[in-house]
Amino acid sequence: MDQAKQDGLKKAAAKKAAALVEDGMVLGVGTGSTVKFFIDELGKKKAAGLTLKAVVTTSSRSQKQLEGYGFTVSPLSEVDQVDLTVDGADRVDKQLNGIKGGGAALTLEKNVAVNSKKNVWIVDESKVVDHLSGFALPVEVLPISCMQVEKRLADEGLKPEFRLTEDGQRLKTHYGNYILDLKLDRIPVPSGLADYLDHTVGVVEHGLFLNICDQVIIARDNGEIEVRS
Ligand code: 5RP
Repeated sequence: MDQAKQDGLKKAAAKKAAALVEDGMVLGVGTGSTVKFFIDELGKKKAAGLTLKAVVTTSSRSQKQLEGYGFTVSPLSEVDQVDLTVDGADRVDKQLNGIKGGGAALTLEKNVAVNSKKNVWIVDESKVVDHLSGFALPVEVLPISCMQVEKRLADEGLKPEFRLTEDGQRLKTHYGNYILDLKLDRIPVPSGLADYLDHTVGVVEHGLFLNICDQVIIARDNGEIEVRS
């Protein structure tokens, strides 16, 4: 699909999600190219008088864009609970489980998501799968033990590869950690893998978001918008 068509789909999903945002909410705003369109929609709503109680976000990129529209962004630690978080996803399956972290913001994304009453993901049809597959699973690891963790994951057959920047350096996350992308064709038992990663010392967070998403807004190639809960 060409870029313009895909952007049109992302924009349509973003617009639908923006309709869920109400005055007085504590709003969580995720990261990525789809969320970028959502923030544009928020900007329009603000110009039309939207007043939020607070806004939290999951990356400096989204923060900058939100501030450009005049929103004041609070750290998650300064809000009690988030009413609604809107984020993108790299893959989402039939049970609304997903892979996230393509933008390396998974740690903050998961922290905001689990502290939100409602999580809505906005995706175009290309992200929707029957079973989680087709996208390397990001795992954020501490630099101090990254080599040991890489070996442990490789020994388990999980095919880890350090994510690199354009100039070949290990990509550093917002928190100064590294990302190991697990180049798996398919994740047959996501809960088993999530459990294993949750218990691996040196893993800060991973991109399996299970039982977190409440609703996914899918922009279909034919122009239809599907809302799945
Ligand atoms: C960033 C994420 C993004 O939400 C995910 O990568 C989707 O991004 P995009 O909308 O650009 O496809 O998880 O860490």
